[in-house]
Amino acid sequence: MLLYDAVIFDLDGTLTDSAPGIFACAEYALNKMGLPVPPEATLRRFLGPPLAESYMKYCGMTEKQATYATDLYRERYIPIGWKENKVYPRIRALLNALKERGVYLAVATGKPEHTSIDILRYFDLLQYFDAVAGPTPQDLHADKGALIRRVLPASKRAVMVGDTAGDVKGAYDAGIASIAALYGYGVNEEVLAAKPTHAVETTGDLCDLLCPEMEKPRGFFVTLEGVDGCGKSTQAAALKERLEQFGYPVRRTREPGGCPIAEEIRKIVLAKEDGGMCAETEALLFAAARAQHVKDTILPAIARGEIVLCDRFVDSSLVYQGMARGLGLDWVKEINRAAFREGAPDATLWLQMPHEKAMARRMAVSQPDRIEQAGDSFHAQTEAGFEELARQYPERFIPVNADQSAEEVTEEAFQKLFQRMRERGVL
Ligand code: TYD
Repeated sequence: MLLYDAVIFDLDGTLTDSAPGIFACAEYALNKMGLPVPPEATLRRFLGPPLAESYMKYCGMTEKQATYATDLYRERYIPIGWKENKVYPRIRALLNALKERGVYLAVATGKPEHTSIDILRYFDLLQYFDAVAGPTPQDLHADKGALIRRVLPASKRAVMVGDTAGDVKGAYDAGIASIAALYGYGVNEEVLAAKPTHAVETTGDLCDLLCPEMEKPRGFFVTLEGVDGCGKSTQAAALKERLEQFGYPVRRTREPGGCPIAEEIRKIVLAKEDGGMCAETEALLFAAARAQHVKDTILPAIARGEIVLCDRFVDSSLVYQGMARGLGLDWVKEINRAAFREGAPDATLWLQMPHEKAMARRMAVSQPDRIEQAGDSFHAQTEAGFEELARQYPERFIPVNADQSAEEVTEEAFQKLFQRMRERGVL
């Protein structure tokens, strides 16, 4: 049986790491008012309590000045600041596991209620909560105890999870147990002095306390493929950032390469001077690098529950060596069978773009490598090759239109990948 059947969470510093956005907006307001910005240790105290209160307490403002500072803060927070936020690792999986087990879930936060709802919706967390309470225009100064009581169901074994002494005191006020989230922003001595029922150092400890039977995190192996110059590297970096914001640990890697031995092979296989390397050697070197990469980097990361984002994988060998170099798909599959007996990709983001346009973009950046120097008909074959593989593996390939702005490509790729991960139960 679970220890608690109703869990009420604080938002900032408990479910999400909102510090970067909050610091930036607090500074923005102070700069606009021509006032000095306090050191980070003081700014950290802004995380949790009502803003105006912090401006008065830590920046010596009058009530009127503090109200003005709050308006300025919102000027930046509403368009940008609220998205400069990160879901803590494993929180999504914890909420899902508790919900599946019929636990009542709510949020009680010092952040305005509508902003809190927007944040939870943006990070796809709102679906887990039965209720959300935060200050409203009618009730701007609600204290934590009152907010907790607003969402507290009757006759439940309830607990409040929060990172500040205010959360623990609010729980006492509402007559329920509390868990101090020491990974958040609260000053730990203060939180512990408020005598919480439990204290946890990490979100992993929080999972163990609230739902010891929940599954360990599952890794997911994602590859990025497409013709030369389609923008994979830019997208891999942007996707990593986006996935991390959503609470996923990400390991970014690439082929050929991704571990010391495979990076050495990369130098040989992509050397700019053409030393007369035959197609078979090329294919075997890619497969050799892959065997090492899978063992040294990919499988360990998946075992740790990480999302692996790999720039090119076996589909590149099938297309470049199997089709464009004419070695045949069967032979390339055969030599790669040994390279990854385990470790087949779970999903492949296929960045679709006409090869001429992609190559022109590629040439504008730097000198082409040995393979990129191959002629136009070779690159036309690679474009057709990826189309063919997408037809063969529709359950794995996720087509993404790469012929739009980088931000639009990231958005499309992220939404499609996130959808696929949810379908596969990767939380
Ligand atoms: P890539 O990393 O995309 O190049 P860059 O970092 O310069 O953009 O890939 C290097 C080249 O290697 C690319 O032309 C595709 C080719 N390649 C193959 O031919 N077969 C393979 O198995 C792999 C992984 C890459």
